Amino acid sequence: MLLNSFLFALTIVPSAFAIKKTEAQSWIPFNTDNFTSHTELITQRHKLSFDLFWAHHEDEIEFGFAAKGRQGWIAFGPSLIGEMKGSDIIWGYTDPLDKKFKVQDRFMKLDAIISIDKVQNLEVISGEQNENGTAFTFKRKYMLCNEEDLPILSTQRFIFAAGFSNERNLHEDRGTMEVQLGGKFNSPCINENIKNVANTEEKKSSAQKSVFINLINVLGIFLFILAFQI
Ligand SMILES: *[C@@H]1O[C@H](CO)[C@@H](O)[C@H](O)[C@H]1NC(C)=O
Ligand SMILES: *[C@@H]1O[C@H](CO)[C@@H](O)[C@H](O)[C@H]1NC(C)=O
Repeated sequence: MLLNSFLFALTIVPSAFAIKKTEAQSWIPFNTDNFTSHTELITQRHKLSFDLFWAHHEDEIEFGFAAKGRQGWIAFGPSLIGEMKGSDIIWGYTDPLDKKFKVQDRFMKLDAIISIDKVQNLEVISGEQNENGTAFTFKRKYMLCNEEDLPILSTQRFIFAAGFSNERNLHEDRGTMEVQLGGKFNSPCINENIKNVANTEEKKSSAQKSVFINLINVLGIFLFILAFQI
């Protein structure tokens, strides 16, 4: 009896089912059979929507990223605090020079310039931009830890954005969201890029704190003088 319910529990727990496309996703040029999870990412202001699919492998994660109706660059990547600065960015676009669709491993340092990584830690599987939208799939290792790549953990914050065109111009809108990816990788590996962002944020908040403390001090002296006069 006990063994039976144990076996039953075992059979229902794994949920490695292939994702079937919905009507709204039928335009997506890649096959979603290899993916086991999906979520929608939505930007804050203009409500641009992206489909994010993923599947876990041994030490790699496979992603599918698609934006319906977009004919410009689309990008997403793991981020520590949802700021673009310090984030890892996977960038898909049709190169205006040779008209080929490219998926690149990029990052944004504290100077807010998006550069291409010296080492492309991606295995691009597919990428396409057509009349219906822009989409790409790739694999990468979870545990990349260097100054141009962030690791991907089981609970991961992402940033995502879309451009007006394929030129490397400003984004039309961007967003950030935490996604429960699942998988077994939980320990962050802090690299220099993240440390710098974290330190800058810490300095900002301690500067705010000291303004607050000074205000309290001034108020304290004021109250003291008031009490003295009464
Ligand atoms: C799905 O996985 C199979 C087996 O690994 C692979 O041959 C195929 O290219 C994958 N398809 C997509 C769309 O990723
Ligand atoms: C775009 O979508 C339409 C309607 O679903 C479809 O007929 C057409 O083949 C699609 N175009 C491409 C390039 O996939």
